[in-house]
Amino acid sequence: MIGVLLGTRPEIIKMSPVIRECERRGLDYFIIHTGQHYSYEMDRLFFEELDLPDPDYSLDVGSGTHAAQTAGIMTGVEDVLTKESPEIVLVQGDTNTVMAGALAASKLHVRVGHIEAGLRSFNRWMPEEINRVVTDHISDYLFAPTENARENLLNEGISDRKICVTGNTIVDAVYQNLEIAKRKVSVLKDLDLEPREYFLVTAHRQENVDNRARLKEILKGLEGVQKEFSMPVVFPVHPRTEKRIKELGIGVDGLNLTKPFGFLEFLQLESQARLVLTDSGGVQEETCVLGVPCATMRYDTERPETLDVGSNILVGADSGKILAGVRSIATWKSDWKNPYGDGIAGKMIVMVCAAARSR
Ligand code: UD1
Ligand code: UDP
Repeated sequence: MIGVLLGTRPEIIKMSPVIRECERRGLDYFIIHTGQHYSYEMDRLFFEELDLPDPDYSLDVGSGTHAAQTAGIMTGVEDVLTKESPEIVLVQGDTNTVMAGALAASKLHVRVGHIEAGLRSFNRWMPEEINRVVTDHISDYLFAPTENARENLLNEGISDRKICVTGNTIVDAVYQNLEIAKRKVSVLKDLDLEPREYFLVTAHRQENVDNRARLKEILKGLEGVQKEFSMPVVFPVHPRTEKRIKELGIGVDGLNLTKPFGFLEFLQLESQARLVLTDSGGVQEETCVLGVPCATMRYDTERPETLDVGSNILVGADSGKILAGVRSIATWKSDWKNPYGDGIAGKMIVMVCAAARSR
């Protein structure tokens, strides 16, 4: 039996190809949702849009400090794993859900499969970097998306026998949903946008938005982009960012702030944007897959493949650099090759798990 653990928006999206493959093969599996994300547009909406089965267990852990959230998830996951005794638990990415779930499983001697293993920003200031390192070192199966991620694991002394390079399941999710998005949603029309005549923005990293000065600089940079290019800047606001903008009483001029979109709407917006500004991990990958230039509002990235192929640049969190970065990439040709695989990562991961079970 396979346990599939998820808890946040990107995990639901990137686990969806794995869940679909478990369903297709008729495998015995169950889903644990930690409830790290719980607002409708960060959680339930994705189960509905992606037609995923309801979680078998909902831990409803919710928000809290890192320690409180991690502890709540560990306790809840431990209870479920004790009851179900799966042979393997799959976790995806770098959230508190991932690290807490992997820790709980490994102490019960349940094997852990880490999807998207081996990513490193080499910046321990990010909570996600701690989660990545801890999870990789206690996992039994490391599903690395690229050779570069595999190298990172080898450099930390992790055995090559545990590593399998699969590509990233985001490619599967994009390929599986882009056509559906074209048929089902009309978000450009709804927002009165013309293809390639608008910018799309997301920002939610703790180190960006929980720092007043940095958040102000980012917003100033975005306002500068809107003024210089005279194009709409569509900014679906993550709940963390929404809270910070409200708390800090920061004014936002000229930006089209909206609620977070569903995956189908967001995919359509992304694929038709002139360029995307973001601090999201998944969005750096998706833009690379979709052939849309990306300006990442950070000083480092654990997705260096996007820099190498030329789909992404780091513009930091300084208003002047954000504007200069956008000027430099607004006319980029999207002729790079996607480094994240052919869209069969979910199949490969489930195949490895199924083979491990029958051993
Ligand atoms: C988390 C992950 C981050 C990931 C992001 C995906 C960690 C350490 N962080 O960050 O790696 O990129 O998810 O989006 O695991 N909130 C709501 N509704 C929700 C969820 C959150 O209102 O459904 C608000 C709460 O005020 C909460 C805040 O957002 O305190 C932050 O949520 P949290 O899950 O702690 O971190 P994220 O910023 O979402
Ligand atoms: N996303 C979405 N709606 C939005 C913004 C993002 O569906 O309004 C999707 C996006 O397509 C990507 C994922 O959310 O697949 C990225 O999640 P997020 O940026 O929250 O987390 P990260 O990838 O940084 O961990």
